[in-house]
Amino acid sequence: MLLEALSVTKSFRGRRGGAPVVAVSNASLRAEPGRFVAIVGESGSGKSTLARMLLDLIPVTDGTVELDGHDIAQLRGGERRAYRRRVQAVLQDPAGSLNPRKRVEQAIGEVVRLHRIASGRSAVRAKVIEALELVGMEPAGRFLDRFPHELSGGQRQRVLIARAIALGPDIIVADEAVSALDASVKAGVLKVMADLTETIGVGYVFITHDLPVVRKVADYVYVMKSGEIVEEGPKDRLFADPQHPYTRTLLAAAPELAPAD
Ligand SMILES: Nc1ncnc2c1ncn2[C@@H]1O[C@H](COP(=O)(O)OP(=O)(O)OP(=O)(O)O)[C@@H](O)[C@H]1O
Ligand SMILES: [Mg+2]
Repeated sequence: MLLEALSVTKSFRGRRGGAPVVAVSNASLRAEPGRFVAIVGESGSGKSTLARMLLDLIPVTDGTVELDGHDIAQLRGGERRAYRRRVQAVLQDPAGSLNPRKRVEQAIGEVVRLHRIASGRSAVRAKVIEALELVGMEPAGRFLDRFPHELSGGQRQRVLIARAIALGPDIIVADEAVSALDASVKAGVLKVMADLTETIGVGYVFITHDLPVVRKVADYVYVMKSGEIVEEGPKDRLFADPQHPYTRTLLAAAPELAPAD
């Protein structure tokens, strides 16, 4: 399975007849199961817009998003539903991704039913428990009846990850998924996410401002600036030998990333 953005561009109509905003310009990216791909770049550089195109939430203005060589804009009915299952979103919890009135079992169970992963109360519950265990919420039974406000920030983020993996996705597009968490909590959630590349073979498109996070978990990194991907490469190469002046600036702004050893 290969998910690609091929020279995608997104422009938004300008306000009050003003010039259009080109949020993403000619960007290409590859994601696949088992691989941890990160996108970094300053605020407004187009990261979330690129993510939304990958998630099939907004149409591209130009270029294509392709799954195994098939343009996702051409998908119909059941094929599009299958795509929506295979490529999952995990956003940050303060964005209101969890309904405050739904208990954990219902929040995860309803997507399991919707995508027909399981049906019947006990089969759905088993799926929910399995997903909670995979994100380290054990014993899972303790969490089934909790409402979001009865969970910590890190636990809520784990529930969002569990809800995504319950569907057996190939790729998770995670937009600032750990950015709001305290350092120690962040490390735990990040480890859970990274471990899933091995336990269930999921791949990531992981968007963050946080370069130390990227250094810890990414395999491959794309750097965005003003809507363009200005540099990309395997993580070790990118951190050791940044080529683009903007990448150097980003690294210089994170003193804890001074070359190790
Ligand atoms: N729906 C929209 N209509 C008009 N302009 C938009 C829209 N969505 C995004 N933009 C503009 O596109 C550009 C890129 O925004 P985007 O949210 O993708 O950046 P980002 O890299 O995710 O930033 P951040 O790190 O702050 O989340 C910005 O200039 C933004 O104002
Ligand atoms: Mg964003």
